[in-house]
Amino acid sequence: MDMKNLFPELEEIKNIDLQSKVAKSLEKAIDLGGWKEEEIRTIPFTLLIPELIGEGKAPKINIVDHIKAVTQMCIATYERYEMLGLGDMLNRDELIAAALLHDVGKFVEYEKDANGRIRQTIAGKRIRHPAQGLELVYEFDLPLIVRQAIVFHSKEGDKIDRLPEVEIVSRCDFLCFAPIKKLFENK
Ligand SMILES: [Fe+2]
Repeated sequence: MDMKNLFPELEEIKNIDLQSKVAKSLEKAIDLGGWKEEEIRTIPFTLLIPELIGEGKAPKINIVDHIKAVTQMCIATYERYEMLGLGDMLNRDELIAAALLHDVGKFVEYEKDANGRIRQTIAGKRIRHPAQGLELVYEFDLPLIVRQAIVFHSKEGDKIDRLPEVEIVSRCDFLCFAPIKKLFENK
């Protein structure tokens, strides 16, 4: 599967070694989850908004589009920080890598049941994607920012002192969840 085709945002990572590690991490997660190319866009980005998951249909927002949206929001946030004279204080490559990998564990947290519905695996329910994600990228020796974003972008990190780049990923991720939940709840 061509990761750059699936996630063109990979090209935004200028450090080629990091770019390749991020692509390999995504590919490993998709392979381990047993997802075929045509199935990737049937994975919802969350199971917590039932209205997003069409019965037997593609979800309204799939995991790939969610990861892309979070990554693009992180890049836009970086540009605003640059405008404020703070660009040099952030690591842009690692911010983008962190955004692209924050939900890497979801490819193993979820599985398809006999009826084709997406559900959490037994380990997914007990360990969740942040810890599963960190576990699966172990071999790639990713930078601290990227590893912290994977394991602490979500509620698991609420009591953790997140690094600035991880704070950006976590908040962009939340922006791609909480208001969307309200949009559907208030319908
Ligand atoms: Fe996410």
